[in-house]
Formats: sequence, C-alpha cells, structure tokens
Amino acid sequence: KQLAEALELFEVQMLKEERVKPEESNYTVLIGGCGRVGYMKKAFRLYNDMKKRGLTPTEPTYTALFNACAESPWKDSGLQSALKLRQQLKDKNQELNLITYHALLKVCALCSDLRMCFDVLKEMVHKGHVPTAETFSFLLMSCIKDSESGFRYALQVWKQMTKLGIKADSHSYNLMLRAARDCGIGDPAVASKVLLRPTDENLPQLRLEPGRQKVKNQRKKGEEAAPAVRLDVEAMEKQLFQESSAQPEELIMQQNKDVNQAEMKPVPTGLDSPNVSHSRTGITNADVVSLGMVYTPSDRLSLMGDVEGFLSKMKKDNAEPDIKTFTLLAELVEPQSPSESSLLALLDEHKVKVDVTFFNTLIRKKSKCGDLEGAKSLLPALAKRRISPNLQTFCNLAIACHQKKDGLQLLSDLKRSGVTPNKFIYSALISAAVRQLDYSYLTEILRDMRNNQVLPNEVIIRQLEFAAQYPPKFDRYKSKNPYLEKVDGFRGYYYRWLKVMAGEETPHPWEKYRTAKRSTDETKEEAVQGQVGHNAPAEG
Ligand SMILES: *[C@@H]1O[C@H](CO)[C@@H](O)[C@H](O)[C@H]1NC(C)=O
Ligand SMILES: *[C@@H]1O[C@H](CO)[C@@H](O)[C@H](O)[C@H]1NC(C)=O
Repeated sequence: KQLAEALELFEVQMLKEERVKPEESNYTVLIGGCGRVGYMKKAFRLYNDMKKRGLTPTEPTYTALFNACAESPWKDSGLQSALKLRQQLKDKNQELNLITYHALLKVCALCSDLRMCFDVLKEMVHKGHVPTAETFSFLLMSCIKDSESGFRYALQVWKQMTKLGIKADSHSYNLMLRAARDCGIGDPAVASKVLLRPTDENLPQLRLEPGRQKVKNQRKKGEEAAPAVRLDVEAMEKQLFQESSAQPEELIMQQNKDVNQAEMKPVPTGLDSPNVSHSRTGITNADVVSLGMVYTPSDRLSLMGDVEGFLSKMKKDNAEPDIKTFTLLAELVEPQSPSESSLLALLDEHKVKVDVTFFNTLIRKKSKCGDLEGAKSLLPALAKRRISPNLQTFCNLAIACHQKKDGLQLLSDLKRSGVTPNKFIYSALISAAVRQLDYSYLTEILRDMRNNQVLPNEVIIRQLEFAAQYPPKFDRYKSKNPYLEKVDGFRGYYYRWLKVMAGEETPHPWEKYRTAKRSTDETKEEAVQGQVGHNAPAEG
C-alpha cells in the first residue's frame, strides 16, 4: 500500500545514494506493486532498467508485467503493451507457465474481448496446460464486457466448465451474478438454440484424452480435479460465436419474435438444473420458459434458479456465498418481491457478515421504485446491527426524494446529524428539482451546497446548465410569462453562484504514486499516448 515510498526507497536510497546492486527479485517485487495499481508505465520502465543491468527476468516478472497491462487505467495502451511483450516472449521462445497465461488472459478479458481470450486459451491448452476454475473465471470476466450477449456467453462458458468436471468456486458464482446483472442474453433465437437444446447434442467439445478414462470421484482430498477430458477450444469457440453464421430460418425467427411463437422447450437452465418458473410474466409451468422473454436482471436470475436455486447450487459445489454474492443477489432479485425481503434472513442463515454496501443496495432499489418509506424502513435494521449509514446510504435515499419537502427534510436531517452531503447527494436532489422545473427548490439546494462548500462536478454543471436554458420557443415580449420570470430569477442566482463555486478536476490516476521529481519526458509520453480508455478519467 506504500508504492510511492517503495519506489523512492529503491530508486533514490538504494540505487543512487547507497549504490546497492539490485537483484532480479527486487525489480519483480516492485513491478508487481506497480502492476496491482495499474501503474503500467513505471512497471515497464523498471523492466527495461533491469534488462539494462543484465538481470534476467523470470516468469513472475512477466506475470507482473501482464498484470500491470490488465490493470492499467488506459485499456488500449494496456492491450498494446501486452501484445508487444507477448510477441517478444514468443520470439525468444520463452515458455509461459499457467500463472503467466492467466495474467495474459486477464489482459484480454479486461482490455480486449472474448475472441482474444480464446486465442490465448488455445495456445495455453496446446502447450499442455490444464484449465482450472481460475482460467474460466477470466473467460467469464470477458463475457461480462459484452453488455448485449454476455449473459448467454457466460452460461455457455459455465456449461463447458462443468462438463470438464471443474468445480465452480464462489468467485465464479459471483461472476455469473455479475453477468446476469450487467449483460443481456442477446438474440433470443440464438440463445434458445444454444441454451435450450438437449445437452447431449452439443457435446463435440468433449474429447477423451488418449490413454485416459473418465473417472468420477477419484479425487483425493485437497487435490485439484484433473479433468479427464480435454477442452477443445476451437469447438467451444465455434459454438459461442455461431451467430455470425446464422441460418436464414433463425433470422426469420428473430424478426417476428413474439411470446407465443417462441419455442417452448424444456430448459436445461443456466446452471444446470432444468427448472425455471416465470411468475412475473404469468407463466407458471415450472419447467418451461421462452428465452424471448428474458429481459430484466431478475429474469436472468430466474434462469439460474432464482435466489433459492442459485444458493442451493452453490451449496452442492461447496462454494460458500459471501457478502458479494448477497449484494449481487440483492441487485438482481425482483424489486419488492418476497425473495427480496428474504435476503436478510438468508444472509444470517449463511452466517455471512452483513455490511453497509448490502443495505445500500436494498435501499437504492426501493428508492428507484420511488418507495421512499420502504427505503427509510431499512434504516432501523442497519442500526440494530450497529452499522452506520454512510454517504452512499443518504445518496440512495436522495434518489427517492422526488418532492421538495422530502429533499429539504433529508438535507436538514443530515445537518442535524452533522453529516455534510457530498456532490452525489446534491446531484440526485438537483435531478428531481430539474425534472419538476421547481426553480425555488433548485435555488435552495444550490444555497445549501454553497453553505457546505461542496463544489459541483461535471454532471451537476450539466444539470444546472439545462435548467438555466430558456425553453426553445418563447417570445419574451409577447406576453408576461411567469415561467420565464422563474428561469430569469434562477439564471441570476446560478451565474453568481458559479463564480464562487469553481468546478473540480478529476485527479490523474497515477498521481499518488509519482515521486516528486517527475520528468517532463513522462508527461510528454503520456500526452502522446493519450488514447484514453473508456473508463479512465481524462488525463489532466
Ligand atoms: C533485494 O533482493 C534480495 C534477494 O532476494 C533481498 O535479500 C533484499 O532484501 C532485496 N532488497 C530489497 C530492498 O528489497
Ligand atoms: C422443478 O421444480 C419443481 C417444483 O418447484 C420440482 O417438483 C421439480 O422436481 C423440479 N425439477 C427439477 C429437475 O429440479
């Protein structure tokens, strides 16, 4: 956690002042540290330094470098550096171990796409490495990046994993929940085709390894399951991406998708037990579902057996649910449903320690349904467990404050408890005030921000600029318009307010690791490199 200090100690004290001769492991440790925080540039500098000194990088060095690429805030340059390194290693005929392959898979998952993962997976398997649950977790991570079809991909990857006899762990289960939360099932026709057909039909991926029999339950305690079957990556890849070779009939199906027309077939559900009920859409025939109707996160959770089915599947695999599991379930479960209310009890049953994030998730869901009272009603349960609400809690409550009186009540409650609201709380309130074009409320919120010296961010400025615009069609001189007077009044206050409330810049992600004397070189290089990734703040 003290990377800047470590770098200073190494580069200044050890190398410059005391002139100690560094060893490979000193570099690798530091590259590892840079990697974990995504300080990729520094990681590669250290790597080049060590080579200049004639030190030989080891497999952990390469793992650390790939990890630095995966974690870099700039995914494009992360990918490019990783590909370059991969090529260099190939040219040197450097064999990679499983851990290094996993780091490379992580780069593909976080900075590229599923096809690239398959490219690496192929090489890895052909070199004789046996995929593990961790290998598959990187594939699942990659699936999650495809917001349109990622859930379908994840279900297919999962099937492959179980077919190989690899037992899912809690992490894999949590990734499935993330897939259900963040991704759709894609084209329902393709999804039905690959997910609903009888399991035996799609077995080409299984190929017995020569000289090996498939043996069940022959594992000793604590020993990793050595899969008796080899993964045929090409076949798996073909099956996943088959939509590119969609047959004409499939295209027709997809054009007039309609609930009745969608084929009703037995469902080998997501996680393997064919049991789906679809109470929300009124289909109660428990073993049947049409994938054409899988639209919402809770629909996708249903495909995996809902809260109960999911947890019992985890139990069968001896995968302990953790607080992340329950928080994800809270996000996914149908809002205002009995399953949602049962979560807290289930959490206790599994002896999982509850945290404020879990409560915040439930509060946020109720708020998003506009159920302010329901959201507030969770606060006593929090207090009972001696958990203090945090700013996120209040922010989630603010989302449900659609009325002026509720918003002002929240602000005065916060003041009474000595809590200074943050910009996200204000932003939520401002959003409601702008929606209702309630300019006097808006002005009161801005006054509160000013009193608390909470500077606006970009989102807030955008909201306020919108509110300060005149309506598109108006004629100021035609008739007296009380609405325009309100806008005028607001504009007067807002522009004075802006003068004293300068906006805030997003800090550079590497700022905190940089040592004091940072070369202008580095700044320049980064400016050139500035192809900023999707999630990274602008380089400022
Ligand atoms: C550098 O590596 C050597 C050998 O592993 C170790 O003994 C030494 O403590 C390391 N130095 C630092 C500053 O970590
Ligand atoms: C599906 O659920 C029903 C009722 O919930 C149960 O009776 C049936 O055994 C389940 N089927 C499977 C294959 O799990």
